[in-house]
Formats: sequence, structure tokens, C-alpha cells
Amino acid sequence: MKVRKAIIPAAGLGTRFMPVTKSMPKEMLPIVDKPTIQFIVEEAKKSGIEDILIVTGKNKRSIEDHFDSNPELEQNLQEKGKTGLLKMSQDITHLGINIYYTRQPYPAGLGDAIARGRSFVGDEPFVVMLGDDLMMDKVPLTKQLIDRYNETHASTIAVMPVPHKEVSKYGIIKPENEIMPGLINVKSFVEKPAVDKAPSDFAIIGRYLLTPEIFPILAEQKPDKGGEIQLTDAIDTMNKTQRVFAHVFNGVRHDVGNKENYLETSIEYGLKHPETKDALRKYIINLGKKLEKQGKE
Ligand code: UTP
Repeated sequence: MKVRKAIIPAAGLGTRFMPVTKSMPKEMLPIVDKPTIQFIVEEAKKSGIEDILIVTGKNKRSIEDHFDSNPELEQNLQEKGKTGLLKMSQDITHLGINIYYTRQPYPAGLGDAIARGRSFVGDEPFVVMLGDDLMMDKVPLTKQLIDRYNETHASTIAVMPVPHKEVSKYGIIKPENEIMPGLINVKSFVEKPAVDKAPSDFAIIGRYLLTPEIFPILAEQKPDKGGEIQLTDAIDTMNKTQRVFAHVFNGVRHDVGNKENYLETSIEYGLKHPETKDALRKYIINLGKKLEKQGKE
């Protein structure tokens, strides 16, 4: 069956990014001039996704506004002859992909957010794309997962190696064997293991291709100690009755829900953006010289 649907969970509180996330969704934080979630929606479109469900929550209205039209702004741009900006605004409204919204009433975990997509997904395979995780590669990671699914018809989770001391921040896989280059048969999935108990350094990153059998499992899933329904636990349960593979991502990942990574991503993107790249490059070179001098003093 063709993979046509995606769920983008974007209802988390974003506490790692406080205070800005007190009133603003972290998924709307700009990378130079484009909100993070727009990159994710564009990745979905490039991967052939037709329908997206964005799971939102309180203080997340600006996500809906961003993909809606803005007649006042558009009229103003039209009158001033700013046709480039007018087109930019209209293109976001007419992305050629259907976007639906639902609310998660309490931030009860990623598993709970995904469970809210059950009737949207129906009995089709679908992808989950985390609203704060940017993936850069020649072929979009979502498309890579869909290509794998088209070969195996199995759920496939994106993973990549992370530094060993960071494993406790992620869902980690216990690999069994590599069944073809970059595709791993998984023994178990463990959410945020202690550093000395982690079964590998392969961490689950923000893209999942799941079969709809995940929904009855999520419905039965008990919350963890922190009161959250973990998607990783549901995937581990599913893996006991149908195979779930791990696909190794070789591109670049930016977790923009974390301040340091967000700043690095903004700089990297700014060095590619036609309006900022030259000035930013000069600035960084001069800053580097200054910092080096300070370091020697
Ligand atoms: P994160 O754990 O990165 O998001 O979840 P968070 O909980 O907002 O962040 P911190 O840790 O407090 O800073 C990954 C994605 O899942 C969504 C988030 O919005 C984010 O895009 N999510 C998380 C939900 O939609 N609902 C939840 O209950 C939890």
C-alpha cells in the first residue's frame, strides 16, 4: 500500500527552550527566516506524502496561521508591488499537500500524541516526523524510509549513532543483524537507557515509518514513571509480533529543540542563505580571529 500520510507531533511543551516556549511553539522558531515546521512539511512533500496531520496544543495557534492565507499581508504586498514576497506567502498556503490539525489536550508523551492520529491514518502505513528534528540528505529521510517500506512492507525506524555518553537522552536499539546494507533487524527498543545499560549507540531519531498495528498497542500502553506514553515502548511491543527494522541515516541531523544545536543550525543555514551568506561568512571569520586572539591573551 502506498505511504501517503504523515503525523507531525508538535504539542510538546518545549521546556528545553524556555523562556521563549512559554508563549510560542518551538516548532515555529525560525532557522534564519523559515519556521522549523515548514522544513518538515517540505520534506514530507518531497517524499510524496499527500496528507499531514499536525498534532498541536495550547499556545500553538501560530502553526495553523503560518500555513493559512494572510489576506491583509497579501493585499499590502500586492499594493506595494512586492511580488516576490507575495508569491512566497501564497506558496506556503498552496503547498499542494493537505494539512489537518488536532489537539493533544495534555502533553502526555509522544505515544499519546501519535495515538490521536488513529482515525486520520485508518489502516494505512504512515510516517511520523518530529516537529523539531531537521534531517538533511540528498534523498529526504522520509523518502528513504518509504523506499525501505516498499521493499520490506515492515515498520522501519530511522536511527543514527550518537556519542555513548548521550544515549540516555534517546530511544536506543538492541541490534540483531544487518539484513542488507544500512537495514538492521532489531531485537529490542529501549527508551532512554542508563549509559552503562545501553544495548548500543544507535539512537532513534525523528522519523518513523509505522504500520497501523501500532494504534491498538498505543491504546493499551501504560504511561511510564513520568506519566508519559512512550512511542518507543509501543514499537518494542509491536516488534514482538511483527518485524520492525532500523534504517541507518547517513545524512546530517539537527535537533533544533535544543539551544546549542539550534544556534549551530541557524549559522549553517545562514551560510547558505542567499541574503545572509556573504555578510555572515565575513562576520564569522572576524569573530573567529577575535576569539583566537582573546584565547591567547
Ligand atoms: P520532545 O521531547 O523533543 O519535545 O518531543 P518536548 O517535550 O516539547 O521538549 P522538551 O523536552 O520539553 O524541551 C519530540 C516531538 O514530539 C512532540 C514535541 O512537540 C516535539 O515536536 N510531543 C512531545 C508532542 O506532540 N506531545 C508530547 O506529549 C510530547
